[in-house]
Amino acid sequence: MANLLRCLTVAITLLVAAGQGRAQVAPLIQNIDARSTISLDGQWQAIVDPYDVGAFDYRGQPLKNNGAFYKNYKPQTKSELVEYDFDASGRLNVPGDWNTQRESLLFYEGSVWYKRSFDYGKSPKKRVFLHFGAVNYMASVYFNGEELGQHEGGFTPFDFEITDRVRPEDNFVVLRVNDVRAKENVPTVNTDWWNYGGITRPVTLVEVPETFIQDYSIQFEKGSTRQIRGWLQLNGPQLRQSVTIRIPEAALSKTFQTDAAGRVEFSFIVDLTLWSPEDPKLYSVEISTATDHVVDRIGFRSISVQGTDVLLNGKSLFLRGISIHEEAPTRSGRAWSQDDARTLLGWAKELGCNFVRLAHYPHNEAMLRMADQMGVLVWEEVPVYWTIQWENPDTLRNARNQLAELIARDHNRAALIIYSVANETPISEARNRFLSQLIQQAHFSDPTRLVSAALQADESKDGNRLSIHINDPIANELDVMGNNEYIGWYTHRVADLDFTDWNSKYDKPLIMSEFGADALFGDHGDSQSRWTEEYQESLYVHQVAMLKRIPFLRGATPWVLKDFRSPRRTLPGIEDYFNRKGLVSDHGEKKKAFFVLQKFYRESQFQLGTKR
Ligand code: GCU
Repeated sequence: MANLLRCLTVAITLLVAAGQGRAQVAPLIQNIDARSTISLDGQWQAIVDPYDVGAFDYRGQPLKNNGAFYKNYKPQTKSELVEYDFDASGRLNVPGDWNTQRESLLFYEGSVWYKRSFDYGKSPKKRVFLHFGAVNYMASVYFNGEELGQHEGGFTPFDFEITDRVRPEDNFVVLRVNDVRAKENVPTVNTDWWNYGGITRPVTLVEVPETFIQDYSIQFEKGSTRQIRGWLQLNGPQLRQSVTIRIPEAALSKTFQTDAAGRVEFSFIVDLTLWSPEDPKLYSVEISTATDHVVDRIGFRSISVQGTDVLLNGKSLFLRGISIHEEAPTRSGRAWSQDDARTLLGWAKELGCNFVRLAHYPHNEAMLRMADQMGVLVWEEVPVYWTIQWENPDTLRNARNQLAELIARDHNRAALIIYSVANETPISEARNRFLSQLIQQAHFSDPTRLVSAALQADESKDGNRLSIHINDPIANELDVMGNNEYIGWYTHRVADLDFTDWNSKYDKPLIMSEFGADALFGDHGDSQSRWTEEYQESLYVHQVAMLKRIPFLRGATPWVLKDFRSPRRTLPGIEDYFNRKGLVSDHGEKKKAFFVLQKFYRESQFQLGTKR
């Protein structure tokens, strides 16, 4: 069964690449930070190419001659015509979005060419991979003047093998990065976040043995706190090997044999300290074969649902959360570093959170590993956002690939408990079919975690009483229901929250995945005045009171931790291209509502304990 699982996931990834007629990216290498690596981060030469003259001729035909920027060609004689020169072009930081590095690129959507040269002394009998944490949106990757392949999707990692291409000196990697939005893409053309373009996460050269441990999953079986069920996949010529898994701290050592496909499934009983927000215990787990050795830091916990309860390690809990966009806490632009993660999760913990919703796309791996360390449970999401092309098979393939890459990267992170397959998507047969396939894929590829989506409920009014009804048919297939509501901001008045009750067709836990109001930090007035901190504060007071009355509520992730850039927010002097629903401003200043939520979470931590 699990073999079928794995083959299916690999098949999905390969199909996606093949289906798009692009060279294949290599299977993702698990836990690259634990490998022998060289960082290619830093200043890269960059050519901004709004008309894609580096890729197409004036007839729109793909360039294959030295005029193609990926050739990085230099004129050989004084009369030779070459109209680009990376070495004389500007520089851009990698990792980093291009938008916040140059005033002129803030609103830029198009192609940018990046080049990085390096020497490389490859060790004998080793293989080398070029690994990208993420590139938004479409990456065409070239190495030493030849195409390696393409990757679509701005928020998940990918790698290419360059073992037979790398040379001791003057290697050059060139990327054409294009972030032009398109209806068939995931996300589609309309988002309430900034379309940050560029090589937004670290680039790494990874060196591994000829036969290496490509991927593994070592987690508790669903609902168990003693039974480990896992698998391991080798990659290389020597696929039949014995594999030893050690957890020295637990005096555990288990040895298994891989099959002809380099694969082994295993299961064993072990007594470990369980990972939880109160005690985020991580174990050093050592995996070794005759040819390779990897160490990972893994927490062990079980997550499941029972009726309307969410159970962590068998005990019901309330998910005290906040939604977060992947924007740097103290500078503008995309977040990517451990420091960024530590600061953002630090603010969430200051709020009293034990949970965060990373919206609306997979955030960087540093965030997941920091959540593991800091004891913060995580909801991760693929950017199936608003109205995408439900009937388009390419769009489905793309969404499936992004989900597959997210699961492939994070399936050993204890903090990660929920995969979300969508946000605020309009109900239709085509949409239901689309989401259903993603839900099945998530359950199939990783049966140990929960699946959710941020839905929107119906409402009815009876006099001044407002009744909200969660009856979206897709909730049938979800483990946990998420719901976004903006009562008191986009709909109704703040006071109406006091007369609002919630009903659900489903015997399932609810997470209120979004609610909130915009406030400009420092803008003060009475609680009726929009954009003031007092309005936002009052809305939170009434929202919290309403939440306490919802019997099947098991969590909340208000919108949003910090003000974030959005092209949809044009109001001068207030929004200035920022969504101002943050509880913290874009300069790190805490608004009054921050303390309303903090008070609720601190109370709930003690009064509500686990079950609300
Ligand atoms: C939506 C959406 C968010 C958006 C928020 C808002 O619900 O999911 O991406 O930013 O509302 O309008 O502020």
